[in-house]
Amino acid sequence: MRITELRKKVGKTDLYIEDLKIESGMIHGLVGPNGCGKTTLLKLIMGITEPDSGTVDLEGLEPTDITMMSQRPYLMHANVYDNIVYPLKIMGEKIDVKKIDELLERVGLLDIKDQYAGSLSSGERQKLSFLRAIVFKPKMILMDETLSNLDQESEALFKEMILERHREDGSTWLIVSHQWDEMNDLFDRVHHMEKGRIVEK
Ligand SMILES: Nc1ncnc2c1ncn2[C@@H]1O[C@H](COP(=O)(O)OP(=O)(O)OP(=O)(O)O)[C@@H](O)[C@H]1O
Ligand SMILES: [Mg+2]
Repeated sequence: MRITELRKKVGKTDLYIEDLKIESGMIHGLVGPNGCGKTTLLKLIMGITEPDSGTVDLEGLEPTDITMMSQRPYLMHANVYDNIVYPLKIMGEKIDVKKIDELLERVGLLDIKDQYAGSLSSGERQKLSFLRAIVFKPKMILMDETLSNLDQESEALFKEMILERHREDGSTWLIVSHQWDEMNDLFDRVHHMEKGRIVEK
């Protein structure tokens, strides 16, 4: 994916990405302080927000190949299990209940798979949104601070699951984080952002 001369004015922030290449098959970090425009950039990539000018060239990817795990995940008014199988249903994919149970077990949500998603804690929501995103095997995954609500053990587990998935299918990841030190070991490439710009560090 290549982002060229992308401009978007949001509030006081003037986002301008002159040239950013997201090489496929790599785990990219997008790191920067609060309010610098990270979420805005992900929304522009997803097409949720329209740019004022500039281009996001998907370079062969289809919009349906890309998924975003939001900073504030939107969950359906349904239980945990149904939230996970929903993307599979809309994409007409086969549902392997055993596989889904294994994933739920791994992140510690199996016991509450019938619980209403709206009643989950913030960490549990992040876990659910992670499973929901990886279950249909997207080629590119955008994660917006999805690991920041997790306890240390869960964070380590998620990193392991990201690396595992990345090894299995060569997917491309763009992971937003302000926890630069803790996430550093996960990233193949790091893009630093400040005041709406990508900067060299
Ligand atoms: N719809 C909007 N209207 C006005 N200002 C906006 C809008 N969306 C974003 N902003 C502003 O643009 C700036 C960038 O927001 P953004 O959410 O992209 O930051 P961020 O880097 O993701 O921050 P954080 O680390 O806190 O999540 C912020 O100052 C925010 O207040
Ligand atoms: Mg943000």
